[in-house]
Amino acid sequence: MRRVCTKHLRAGMQLAQPVISSDGKILLAKGQVLRESYISRLIQLGVYSVYVVDPRFPDIAAEDFLSEQSRLQALRLVRSACTSLISGSLLDTSAISEVVDMLIEDLSSKPNLLVSIFDIRLKDDYTFAHSVNVCSFAILIGMAFALHKGQLRELAVGALMHDLGKTALPRELLHKPGPLSPAEYEMIQEHARIGFDILRRQGEIGLLSAHIAFQHHERIDGNGYPRNLTGTDIHLYGRIVAVADVYDALVSDRAYRSRYLPHKAAEMLTEQSGKAFDAEVVRHFLQQVAFYPTGTLVRLSTGIIGVVVDVNRPVTTRPIVRALYDSRGNDIGDYYELDLSKHSDISIIEVVADETRLA
Ligand SMILES: [Fe+2]
Repeated sequence: MRRVCTKHLRAGMQLAQPVISSDGKILLAKGQVLRESYISRLIQLGVYSVYVVDPRFPDIAAEDFLSEQSRLQALRLVRSACTSLISGSLLDTSAISEVVDMLIEDLSSKPNLLVSIFDIRLKDDYTFAHSVNVCSFAILIGMAFALHKGQLRELAVGALMHDLGKTALPRELLHKPGPLSPAEYEMIQEHARIGFDILRRQGEIGLLSAHIAFQHHERIDGNGYPRNLTGTDIHLYGRIVAVADVYDALVSDRAYRSRYLPHKAAEMLTEQSGKAFDAEVVRHFLQQVAFYPTGTLVRLSTGIIGVVVDVNRPVTTRPIVRALYDSRGNDIGDYYELDLSKHSDISIIEVVADETRLA
């Protein structure tokens, strides 16, 4: 399989990954053969790219770091939690514990799976998919810190619910495409405190989980909000969720900008490591991210264009690339593989979004 930008899809291509709406519905199943009408719909829904079956690379698999079932169930839970809050009811804390346990179980059963952001997400409502990703990243970072099960649960509950305070804010404000006025920015910042108040009222949700909502926008250099906390005055959980939250926001399309590719987002986190973000947290996280997920088409410094077939641990910046085209864009035919971790003289210079321009 390989990754193809939605606008370059053609009828007859077959999906290698399902397309899931952010409230947990399967819109197009894995294996679905695309028709023109499906392609237009995907573009309309804001899906940036999908994974398609490519007979040239039957051996390359795109594996989501979460199982489909966990992702669907978690998405539905976040959605229903938001609905409950809007209608003034309490959260279903037992459903939250169940989902959190499932996510922890799922992620701990795949210790070598790197985080690849599959761009199969829609622009319809960013919050649900974002919360599930932030929670998953937080669990992975928590495991790298060797937190025990009880701590992972506290962390995961707070991470999954970190942005619930946004349910109290006007929708137009959250989706405003232009720059915010100082008063609007102040209102947005309130979601941290509101989230804390909501979670701490739930009784069965621990205070540390509630503090994640309160602290996830704090920065260790004191430039965060709402209380300008610094260093370890921010709880480890808050420092973890800050990194998870920013990374997932960077690799997502937002109302005011389009997504960054994983390696760019990683560079931005590294740049702020030890400044805004806890360096240890950033280090643990980046060891678990696929900068160039399998199926990504890349151009190498030699001019060769190839597809990433495997990601090397721990040097995730230097994957194994199967060469497809020479520097003049001619099909190599007899494909060969380059392990970039063993070729320090060769580097990736570009992610190629559109293979058709080579043909
Ligand atoms: Fe937030």
